[in-house]
Amino acid sequence: MDNKPTKANLLIEALPYIKEFHHKKIMIKYGGHAMIDEEAMNSTARDTVLLKYVGIEPIVVHGGGPEITRSMNKMGKEPRFIKGLRVTDEETMEIVTMVLVGKISTDIVSKIGFHGGKASGISGKDSQLIVASKKAPHKIKDDETGEEHVVDLGLVGQIDSLNTELLQMFTENDYIPVISPIGIDDNGNTLNLNADTVAGEIAAEIDSEKLIILTDVPGVLKDPKDPKSLIKQIKIDEVDDLIRDGIISSGMIPKIETCVKAIEEGVESAHIIDGRIEHSLLLEIFTTKGIGTMITK
Ligand code: ARG
Repeated sequence: MDNKPTKANLLIEALPYIKEFHHKKIMIKYGGHAMIDEEAMNSTARDTVLLKYVGIEPIVVHGGGPEITRSMNKMGKEPRFIKGLRVTDEETMEIVTMVLVGKISTDIVSKIGFHGGKASGISGKDSQLIVASKKAPHKIKDDETGEEHVVDLGLVGQIDSLNTELLQMFTENDYIPVISPIGIDDNGNTLNLNADTVAGEIAAEIDSEKLIILTDVPGVLKDPKDPKSLIKQIKIDEVDDLIRDGIISSGMIPKIETCVKAIEEGVESAHIIDGRIEHSLLLEIFTTKGIGTMITK
């Protein structure tokens, strides 16, 4: 037998997945390197268009942290974070909205269009897609003094309800929706939301087959210093042990928790993949081994 992965073999390897995911929704969270510059963004958009044309229904949620920080710096505002969450005053919220909706979303939409896909940008404010409420103030402990103090994150929200009618309209008509992670509260205020959480919750709500999170790491690593120690597959009931043993740590914990929640709510599989590798999306979806960490029930 010839085991060389010829071009034809690669296409044949993809066939069962093309069949399995035909007409299924796949939620993709764009973040990090996958949208770091023109070239990366173009490549990610092109891969997304390919998914669409083989019969999958991609839905995009994008992040934008570094770009928001850059814009804040340009405007002479000092970004502040508490436990990874951006402290968001009114002026910051305006910048967040301008960058996410005005810049990043329109960029993604035009790149998808450039590669022959139909896309439309919407934010959580469009027809009440994401109704949110302000997060309660955080209690944090000072590591040195042990003193507890309460900090208010400002206009940072948690999701209360989703109204996905508009999304369905887009997907039914072959549009790729590109969602900016901001929400609206009962009084019409705009709230800043975590993009991973938005992707996970919407994925569950619309019965998405998969949730794929593009990150800047290979996936979950046994040894964080060794990229070759990638754990290719995790079952959700193994997650607690992995956190306890320190294998899943710091920034990876909220991502994995988002994945676990999405799976508990009906998403078949969640994938954490490396957006620094070109075409990681295609490699994960259309090959047997994939390229990142796949989490399942
Ligand atoms: N292509 C298949 C899928 O998307 C398998 C992916 C396996 N990936 C992994 N990291 N183990 O369902």
